[in-house]
Amino acid sequence: MKILVTGGLGFIGSHTVVELQKEGYEVVIIDNCSNASEEVLEGITAITGKRPLFEKMDLRDKADVISFFDRHSDVAGVIHFAASKAVGESVEKPLLYYENNLTTLVYLLQQLTQKKKAHFIFSSSCTVYGQADEMPITENAPVKPAESPYGNTKQIGEEIIRDTCRVCPQLQAISLRYFNPMGAHPSAEIGELPLGVPQNLVPFITQTGIGLREQLSVFGDDYPTEDGTCIRDYIHVVDLARAHVVALKRLMDGKNEENYEVFNVGTGTGSSVMEVIHSFERVSGTKLNYKVVGRRAGDITQAYADTSLANRVLGWKAESTLDDAMRSAWKWEQKIRS
Ligand SMILES: NC(=O)c1ccc[n+]([C@@H]2O[C@H](COP(=O)([O-])OP(=O)(O)OC[C@H]3O[C@@H](n4cnc5c(N)ncnc54)[C@H](O)[C@@H]3O)[C@@H](O)[C@H]2O)c1
Repeated sequence: MKILVTGGLGFIGSHTVVELQKEGYEVVIIDNCSNASEEVLEGITAITGKRPLFEKMDLRDKADVISFFDRHSDVAGVIHFAASKAVGESVEKPLLYYENNLTTLVYLLQQLTQKKKAHFIFSSSCTVYGQADEMPITENAPVKPAESPYGNTKQIGEEIIRDTCRVCPQLQAISLRYFNPMGAHPSAEIGELPLGVPQNLVPFITQTGIGLREQLSVFGDDYPTEDGTCIRDYIHVVDLARAHVVALKRLMDGKNEENYEVFNVGTGTGSSVMEVIHSFERVSGTKLNYKVVGRRAGDITQAYADTSLANRVLGWKAESTLDDAMRSAWKWEQKIRS
């Protein structure tokens, strides 16, 4: 069965391509390489022994999207990762984010709704919950007003899919709300390749550990948490990738209860910034140069998932520990800098 993975050369997409291929799916990737390189194809091929099909294409080009589905009428499912994801940049360039994250979604759905049956997985984010009132966060927690244009594109994206599913019963869709993906494939053939200054904690830590950055700033140690630093739910990217395969299978097997469903994808465990730093020090055997500085505007105190719905309904559970994920991130950092 042929599966289209948009943004399949990116961080989460590439790991998902590997898991799809391992399960016997044929994969075709669309990516415009705005935040990835074609070399990722070599990494995927080294792991699975099978080179996925690849079309370098910008999903903002509607004519190209139409032409793609004409040429690949046998696509049985779509996993849609392609998007811009830097929160800070989205504040500076809101229209870029609304265009890239929403028009691409609309163009894909326009094609899928013309099919007799279509299966669609969407990359959403725990950012839709903002600072939730209760921990752990269930899927029923209210969606809070978005803190950034990026976050807003995830909320609007979910609404676009929900509204479309309401009138198109042939469209079967799942939004996965990721918590904090980290790590790399254990082979270190693929991993996260942040351009410029990393936006996320873990690549910043590993880049500091390898000497690429002088010091990690810990933004605030006066939050109402045990050690005063912010808490997030860090999930190994391979566990996250597996969740996509399981969700897609649920749709393909017709096991979904509604034609639009939403699942949290996290570990269910919150880790503080200090715990993540200690994990790095444990697995690397080196001390990290860090300094506590003032709080950063817009940071929420804590966010971690209630994953019981995904555990029970999808039969999926995160298997890796924070140290496992950190070990893979460190191995990857060492490989790309060697
Ligand atoms: N990484 C995270 O922390 C995180 C958390 C929650 C949700 N998400 C979402 O998951 C998805 C994947 O994230 P990621 O971390 O793998 O990001 P990424 O930037 O590594 O991957 C996205 C890929 O999409 C491609 N792309 C972007 N715009 C495109 C376009 N118009 N046409 C074709 N290709 C395009 C990029 O080149 C890149 O390879 C995104 O939708 C992101 O918003 C990520």
